[in-house]
Amino acid sequence: MKQQKPVCIWLTGLSGAGKSTLAYLLEQHLHAAGKHSYVLDGDNVRHGLNRDLGFADADRGENIRRVAEVARLMIDAGLIVVVSLISPFRFQREHARKLFAPGEFVEVFVDAPLAVCEQRDVKGLYAKARRGELTQFTGIDSPYEPPLAPEVHVRCDLLDPMDCVNRILQALATDEGHL
Ligand code: ADX
Repeated sequence: MKQQKPVCIWLTGLSGAGKSTLAYLLEQHLHAAGKHSYVLDGDNVRHGLNRDLGFADADRGENIRRVAEVARLMIDAGLIVVVSLISPFRFQREHARKLFAPGEFVEVFVDAPLAVCEQRDVKGLYAKARRGELTQFTGIDSPYEPPLAPEVHVRCDLLDPMDCVNRILQALATDEGHL
């Protein structure tokens, strides 16, 4: 009925790298192409389903596990799911990947140097972290492990958002005809 192949597009990267911007732009384009999609964004999911979780390593793991499980249910329902989470640890992302069939999980490294994210500091959180008012902040006093072999790697500081989205759409189009 949906004329689409469900897939989980997993955006990982530092806070401020541009994950949410790309997620919603991607959704707009999927929508325009008549595809049914849903965005699971950490900033939103943490207000509801995951409001009991903080930013300790184990909490981030549980955040990722729940979002991956929800994404899997949505894939069962036939949707294209766009996940936007820092998801800083490789092994936690690999756990998420294991929930999906081969080809159903497309990891996208939304890459911008820390200095650029920190300079943008849209939410003022990097400044807070530097002042010590926020602890365990990714990139400052909590690590970010970049993907070693993501399906897609976009440099958000060098490309504009639409170019990044086009790279993702291309990867989907060539990968087993998702679109
Ligand atoms: S994740 O690490 O568990 O994947 P998630 O993507 O859900 O993180 O949430 C990240 C968002 O929470 C950031 O964009 C930022 O707005 C906010 N945030 C608040 N505290 C922290 C922190 N200590 N580290 C990273 N992000 C934080």
